[in-house]
Amino acid sequence: MKLLVLHGLNLNMFGKRDPAQYGTTTLAEIDAAVEKLAAELGATAQCFQTNFEGAMVERIHQAHSDGTGAVIINAGAWTHYSYGIRDALAILSCPIVEVHMSNVHAREEFRHTSVFSPIVRGQICGFGIDSYLLGVRAAVSALQAK
Ligand code: DQA
Repeated sequence: MKLLVLHGLNLNMFGKRDPAQYGTTTLAEIDAAVEKLAAELGATAQCFQTNFEGAMVERIHQAHSDGTGAVIINAGAWTHYSYGIRDALAILSCPIVEVHMSNVHAREEFRHTSVFSPIVRGQICGFGIDSYLLGVRAAVSALQAK
């Protein structure tokens, strides 16, 4: 079970960025926790972060043929407007879980919309680092149910 964990723009700044929304956990700590949980569940997790939309699209394209079984994605602000990333995700046939550290529905109006919502298996938001860990569990369950 190969999981691909994708982090979008500005998420490399977790730990330094707006601690009231995102806490003080760094992206490296998130990745370490995700990899540890995936291993406990009998899966492997590969984590990727970029601030460049084209690089994210190309990494998603690779997932089409590199054996990725499920994708967990926090696309940051791209979630709210990137039809390019949505189209790339829609090419995949594997389960996709959308995650957010903050409760996007309790924040500004523009964060209430996800252009990915029609094509993902489900969304998890508002639980900080646990959003990612719940996302890993959801992805593994989806794969086990196959
Ligand atoms: C976020 C929420 C987005 O609205 C925001 O643009 C981010 C982070 C989150 O993890 O809560 O960059 O995806």
